[in-house]
Amino acid sequence: MNADLIIYNIGQLVTGKELPVKDGETRMENIEVLNNGYIAVSGSEIMAVGSGEVPSKLIKFTTKLIDAEGCVVTPGMIDSHTHLVHGGSRENEFLDKIAGVPYIEILKRGGGILSSVKATVEATEDELVNAAKKSLRRMLSYGVTTVESKSGYGLDSETELKQLRVNERLKLEQEVDIVSTFMGAHALPEEYKDNREGFIQKVIELLPVIKERELAEFFDVFCEEGVFSNEESRKMYIEAQKYGFKLRIHADEIENTKGAELAKELQMYSADHLMAISEDGIKALKNSDVIANLLPGTSFSLGKDYAPARKMIDEGVQVALSTDYNPGSCPTENLQLIMQIAALKLKMKPKEIFKAVTINAAKSLGRDKRVGSIEEGKKADFVFFDSKNIEYILYHFGINHTSKVFKNGCLVYKK
Ligand code: NIG
Ligand code: FE
Repeated sequence: MNADLIIYNIGQLVTGKELPVKDGETRMENIEVLNNGYIAVSGSEIMAVGSGEVPSKLIKFTTKLIDAEGCVVTPGMIDSHTHLVHGGSRENEFLDKIAGVPYIEILKRGGGILSSVKATVEATEDELVNAAKKSLRRMLSYGVTTVESKSGYGLDSETELKQLRVNERLKLEQEVDIVSTFMGAHALPEEYKDNREGFIQKVIELLPVIKERELAEFFDVFCEEGVFSNEESRKMYIEAQKYGFKLRIHADEIENTKGAELAKELQMYSADHLMAISEDGIKALKNSDVIANLLPGTSFSLGKDYAPARKMIDEGVQVALSTDYNPGSCPTENLQLIMQIAALKLKMKPKEIFKAVTINAAKSLGRDKRVGSIEEGKKADFVFFDSKNIEYILYHFGINHTSKVFKNGCLVYKK
């Protein structure tokens, strides 16, 4: 069969394909990087990948040929933890935050997540769609082609459903693939201060409604000291599992609440944040399929400790990296900046970082059969970087290195 599109002369082609782990390598460095690579696309899918001369049998006279001029090409990157859909912004809390008022303290004063809840309740569906589209366009410009998007700024049923409907519209109205997560247990509304059990019941009652309307694939809880305890979280997760939700968790972000251990016990797809993970937590994750989804932009923005990424990776934990894009703890859509922080602060190596935002992020979303690597039969989602090697993309920080983005075989962004 011939290709519709061939990209050739790729200086470094990060296919993202997982290779057997070599001696002296971590289980995060084992991704394939081809020199002088090519990609052949048929329709919206990848039909062949290789290095060296493009086989002539792939080329017909209508095949479009693109010379990558020796640049880096990677799989479309995946941002597997975002709070994309929200009303308003929180620069009014910025000075307090810089002055050192703790994140949980701002929340207790009715600010933080609760102030974004107010803005999201007040926003119309169209306003939320338009704001999210603007963010997605920005994410795409950084090379991101799949984004996980959580609810959790509604807390009341009506607004939670509104946020999830926005996700459904985004799936239809723009190019980036959206994975929808219900996070009704993101904070305890003030009116439930003395009725925690009542709120938890409300979240549980919403599960079948969301399932029936097919509004979310994943369920997530903010399991944290002062938010939802390990026991309370477990209770909601067990119900969610009964309705067929896949699970992910905000775990051990500020205090250790044995969130990683809970993720392993309930076979979740990912445990996210993990700045305060314990030795036992690391042990639990390394003996599991749970992806440790690290969000170093949040540590950077909150001025907190970073997750012990080096230790986790050296012990064999599988790691993903995401922005955590949200209006409070990490207001940025820039996944490249997160990758650069991962290099500088988490001491992650270039191949580990690219694995974390491609195939491992895809696994954390249960999408690794379709996206996350440039392999035959997968979606033709890939990114051109204005760079000759992957190290340069991480080293030259704070700028956007993406020059072109292809989604489903079509050029959707060009610098
Ligand atoms: O992942 N930790 C909880 N949720 C978000 C923050 C949300 C917010 O501050 O609005 C997070 O950091
Ligand atoms: Fe988050």
